[in-house]
Amino acid sequence: MGPDPEGLVSFMKQHKIVPSAWGPLGGTEKQLFSNSTFHEITQGEQTANFAKHSGHLPAQVAFKWLYQHGIHIVTASGSKPHLKQNLEALDGSWSLSTEEMRQLDEFKTSGSFSSQQISAC
Ligand SMILES: NC(=O)c1ccc[n+]([C@@H]2O[C@H](COP(=O)([O-])OP(=O)(O)OC[C@H]3O[C@@H](n4cnc5c(N)ncnc54)[C@H](OP(=O)(O)O)[C@@H]3O)[C@@H](O)[C@H]2O)c1
Repeated sequence: MGPDPEGLVSFMKQHKIVPSAWGPLGGTEKQLFSNSTFHEITQGEQTANFAKHSGHLPAQVAFKWLYQHGIHIVTASGSKPHLKQNLEALDGSWSLSTEEMRQLDEFKTSGSFSSQQISAC
């Protein structure tokens, strides 16, 4: 999807609207994304390899990438280990380098917004 799907994020920032990621891991609610997006982000080869090199978990990298792009995150978990990982993802002890952000910006998943979904938001 990239950091600026169909120019939505840059448009929002230009108009001083804080973008919010509801379902940042692909969503448990399937209206916007296919279930495969969740697996691509949390278990996919591309994200797993990247996360391994950065010393973090794929979901943590996904959250940090959003955070560093100035995007508010609304996630959910019923798992204590996941909740702990998610809090650790957003602590100030680590960050993604400019080069890591650039690489992540180029990642593609099968899930994407359509113009119709964006205009409905
Ligand atoms: N997605 C949407 O379209 C949408 C729309 C409107 C409102 N919302 C609301 O926004 C909130 C978040 O949406 P969402 O649940 O779709 O968020 P999400 O962050 O995309 O997905 C949450 C899923 O990710 C798993 N998860 C959480 N942390 C993880 C981690 N560290 N590693 C691996 N898996 C992890 C959770 O499973 P575990 O429980 O096993 O951790 C859960 O199945 C909800 O309250 C929802 O009602 C979402």
